[in-house]
Amino acid sequence: MRSQHWFGGLDKDAFIHRSWMKNNGLPDDAFDGRPVIGICNTFSELTPCNAHFRGLIEHIKAGVLEAGGLPLEFPVFSCGESNLRPTAMLFRNLASMDVEEAIRGNPIDGVVLMAGCDKTTPSLVMGAASCDLPAIVVSGGPMLNGRLKGRTIGSGTDVWKFSEDVRAGVMTPAEFMAAESAMSRSPGHCMTMGTASTMASMAEALGLALPGNAAYPAVDAHRARLARLSGRRIVAMVAEDLRPSHILTRAAFANAIRVNGAIGGSTNAVVHLLAIAGRVGTELTLEDWDRFGRDVPTILNLMPSGTFLMEDFCYAGGLPAVMKEIADLLDLDNPTVTGQSVGANIADAENYNPDVILPRDVALTQQGGIAVLKGNLAPQGAILKPSAATPALMQHRGRAVVFETIDHYKQRIDDPDLAIDETSIMVLKNCGPKGYPGMAEVGNMALPQKLLKKGVRDMVRISDARMSGTAFGTVVLHVAPEAAVGGALALVKDGDWIELDVAGRRLHLDVDEAELARRREEWTPPEIAMPGGYQGLYVERVMQADRGADLDFLVGCRGHAVPRESH
Ligand code: FES
Repeated sequence: MRSQHWFGGLDKDAFIHRSWMKNNGLPDDAFDGRPVIGICNTFSELTPCNAHFRGLIEHIKAGVLEAGGLPLEFPVFSCGESNLRPTAMLFRNLASMDVEEAIRGNPIDGVVLMAGCDKTTPSLVMGAASCDLPAIVVSGGPMLNGRLKGRTIGSGTDVWKFSEDVRAGVMTPAEFMAAESAMSRSPGHCMTMGTASTMASMAEALGLALPGNAAYPAVDAHRARLARLSGRRIVAMVAEDLRPSHILTRAAFANAIRVNGAIGGSTNAVVHLLAIAGRVGTELTLEDWDRFGRDVPTILNLMPSGTFLMEDFCYAGGLPAVMKEIADLLDLDNPTVTGQSVGANIADAENYNPDVILPRDVALTQQGGIAVLKGNLAPQGAILKPSAATPALMQHRGRAVVFETIDHYKQRIDDPDLAIDETSIMVLKNCGPKGYPGMAEVGNMALPQKLLKKGVRDMVRISDARMSGTAFGTVVLHVAPEAAVGGALALVKDGDWIELDVAGRRLHLDVDEAELARRREEWTPPEIAMPGGYQGLYVERVMQADRGADLDFLVGCRGHAVPRESH
């Protein structure tokens, strides 16, 4: 066991390692060579989606003990989506560094990754992938369905709708306030198919979590059982030396991308999977998202693309049932944390509700994958989620209305004199990884009040930002290179014609080359606030969205060789 480099032997160092651990109440035989299982806990009361982890971890520990391991919990940076400013994504890479170094530097043989809120899953998997010790994901599970005045409401998705209804004058502020309590009724993460549910599904689809991980509600006893079984399983994985690099093959990523299309998953999965692949050293490109996901039907009828919520998904059979419906599109031989193949894991799955998990011929869309757009406006690519877009707008030519920054957008959007109508294309600059350090979820800009009042609910929007996984609309995101580094997005001016052709995967700025060259000459980089510390390092070293927005020096697997002794 790797942990025996600390706990084995009779010398001074082993004395120190064991003696201090014994103040936890551990007996002599805790150090007899049994596997030490680190439990990486993102519990935080400031990350409300993960605030129930103190209870959940007891089930993991019980499972580890039952299987003959020694469970040792450790905390890591918890990226909470709802509170962290300027955006939780700014800290995903920082958290992944914390995870990586905490695993490598400690006497750990295998690790359980306790994730929930959006960025906690990718940060933990990225850190663990860079170490490549046996690892299993246990997600915290979604909240119960929101309920307001007899109707079901979903995290995030209904916030966007309600806030537009308030601005359009069809919902009162008092009703808006009442929805707050009705939306978040239990422990757990967002219960729409937002980024948290998507990443829990990605962990399961990649083979990093036990079947059922994505959908059991946080408060369901099945969740506690899954945690306990995961605790047992990680002990066996250590004996089998089953590591992330064995599971995270190119086929695993292809499976996950296809599953993302089938579930109508979040656009944020694009940057997270690219970053995870980079850490483990598996080839994956932005174009692979289109290649693997292009003809996958979206069969999961969940908000924001559809109607239902994660609780309904659980009762309908969960992710194994979705994977079985698209089994012909998956590599069924890839290994998983169960010790069995993907195919074996889903062999007995059943779809208990065809209104929630739709038959393929009545899918929400037959083009469920993420569309990767290229053109002179996005030479390194941009993305759009067809299942969340308005079909009539996916082929559109319109005049640009440009917002230089998010503050410029806020100043300008409700100006009654703004020259904008429903055929315009809203363009937001300087919100990419460097420009708005962290690449904020502002790409689904709210529409101008005057158009909302006319009943307009969608327009083409283009930016280098991300958008919440709970959001919807005909929104082109992740434009690379971003405006802040001089990408073509920086050159767009009010009134320019832009063509969006999703079927042709094209995003074109209809301005001639000579004029673009002239504008490029005139362009000066924006001032980016550089507060120093980690945020300064981030701005200096973050890569573009098509590389997963990881820090360049974190790419790759640095392994789990035992660090040199210090005493
Ligand atoms: Fe944590 Fe949505 S805010 S999952």
